[in-house]
Amino acid sequence: MADTKLLYLTDAYLKTIEAKITNIITTGHTTSITLDQTIFYPQGGGQPADTGTITGSNGTLAVAHVSYNNSNPTHQGKLTGTLNQGDMVNLNLDWDRRFHHMRNHTAGHILHEAVLELLPECPSVSGTHGISNQSFVKFKGIIDQTQLQEIEDICNQIVEADEPITTKFMTKAQILKAKIYIPFKLPSNKPLRIMQVGSRPPIPDGGTHVASTADVLPFKLTGVEYDDGHSIIHYQISATSPSTTSNSPANPITTPTLTPPSTKKKAAKIQINHSLSDLETKITTLKSALDTDLKSLSPDNINSKYLGKKGAVDDLTKLIPALPASDRGTAGKLINLLKADIQKTLVTTQPTLPSPPSDWLDVTVPGTLPQLGHLHPVSGAMAEITSIFAHIGFTRARYPEVDWDHYAFESLNMPQNHPARDEWETFFIDQPENKQMGKLVLTPHTSNGQVREMERVGEPPIRMLNIARCYRRQQDVTHTAMFHQFEGLVVDEDINIQHLKGTLDYFAQKFYGPGAKSRIRPFMFKFTEPSFEVDFSCVHCNGKGCRFCKSGWHEVGGAGMVHPNVLKAGGIDPDKYTGFAFGWGIERVYTLRPGLKLDDIRPLYQNNLDFLSQF
Ligand code: FA5
Repeated sequence: MADTKLLYLTDAYLKTIEAKITNIITTGHTTSITLDQTIFYPQGGGQPADTGTITGSNGTLAVAHVSYNNSNPTHQGKLTGTLNQGDMVNLNLDWDRRFHHMRNHTAGHILHEAVLELLPECPSVSGTHGISNQSFVKFKGIIDQTQLQEIEDICNQIVEADEPITTKFMTKAQILKAKIYIPFKLPSNKPLRIMQVGSRPPIPDGGTHVASTADVLPFKLTGVEYDDGHSIIHYQISATSPSTTSNSPANPITTPTLTPPSTKKKAAKIQINHSLSDLETKITTLKSALDTDLKSLSPDNINSKYLGKKGAVDDLTKLIPALPASDRGTAGKLINLLKADIQKTLVTTQPTLPSPPSDWLDVTVPGTLPQLGHLHPVSGAMAEITSIFAHIGFTRARYPEVDWDHYAFESLNMPQNHPARDEWETFFIDQPENKQMGKLVLTPHTSNGQVREMERVGEPPIRMLNIARCYRRQQDVTHTAMFHQFEGLVVDEDINIQHLKGTLDYFAQKFYGPGAKSRIRPFMFKFTEPSFEVDFSCVHCNGKGCRFCKSGWHEVGGAGMVHPNVLKAGGIDPDKYTGFAFGWGIERVYTLRPGLKLDDIRPLYQNNLDFLSQF
């Protein structure tokens, strides 16, 4: 555990203190100092190290980096003059830089809280709050791009609610006993501390934070990217805090109690001297000035006068902290609307150019591109499924879509009038019946290919993949009258359930990603014995259970060991050969893929290009 007293853990607002040098080493141009106490934050937990100076009576270390060396922070930099072990020195932080890192780190926690509120099934697992100029939080599961605005709104509500940030030291045993969510491995060489936003659940954290969420204003999410089943949400805060100046902390973070800081003290620091109607008046005045300027200034000049850094809109933004906290959200929205209006006006205001001569050809004008199409998502899925199974020796087969009752039911151990047939709500063709083959039907499943394939091959081995359109009298969010199935059939000597399970897991991992798993549950099909229903683990929560899957699993179809009667119907000796078969809906397996979350399959067949071109 650290010998150096880590004062930044108890008071993040200390900018300067006196300390004693406990060790000093110079190697080349770099001097490293350890102290009996420090306010310098060593890089860690996603927060960059502090910079500043350590000054004694005969020299100064310009601190460029602070890191944890064994269990003490080491302050590294260039030394001018001399400093010795035992010297008393003054520590001074680059406070503006540190204050920005505090705001940025707190912002990361606000983002964690916002996602927890909206999507509890997507906990955060790590974050970076300014290292290499990156600010993001990584969450388990897939968070759709379209949810970012809602998350940003919740972040800004937390900011506007002016929630106090509090911290408290705890031991590992206390953290575990209190069942506090631990997103990463707890460090063993530092004191353990938890931080809490308002009265939200605490979280282990050793960084420095501002006293209130209001200091983070304004807050923006800038995008999301995906990495191995995780969503990385990037965020940005403004360079300076509009609500409190960094030099006058409203409420230094208190420790070890979790008591909210006094609001009285805070009110004294913020000058609330504008109202929302003042802001509205200023917006109206700005708009009429803009109307006049549009007649005389070029779009570029308008852009810099109104939208540029230190432009008219920026001036309005600076008023937000001077408004009552309850009006700041509305003010932000009004200013954003104004900005969007000006941008729109600039786009539509084209400079008048002299017209080109009539024989003039502009060779730089881009040509007209033909409209490009792409495969329908279900066709794409078929090609991918075919390729996945081709790698383990399956050959694609196709059998008639209008087939005899014999192949669809009778040869599959489902004699006429057997109640199991009701499950396949079949369309019959209005044609005379054939004595041996029965009626003609629109194939209700791809299992009609099983006996046909046995007849075609004659003697095993068989490894068939039959992909085809199927038809049933069904229509709801997960069923369409025409849909697709893919059927696997393997027949050989000594084929057993382990071969089936291995094939299911192989497909799950290839189609959904390396972490995906399959599960089989007992079921009843007349043409397999034993029979199973097959589930794949949910890609959004890795099988833990979320809003999308409820149980952690999604059912995709059936499977089982081929019934001896079916082998006999296909002319194969059931005493010599065994086999397995499976049949799943393509629409079903496709819509479960990461990033899709399609809970209605019907739009896949409504020929709406706006919908289909998204895939
Ligand atoms: C069958 O069709 C069996 N032939 C599967 C089978 C093959 C079992 C080989 C054993 C051995 P089921 O009726 O459950 O089983 O349909 C399988 C899957 O097809 C369903 O889970 C679903 O994903 C898909 N499906 C069925 N009906 C529809 C429909 N109307 N619309 C879209 N998908 C459907």
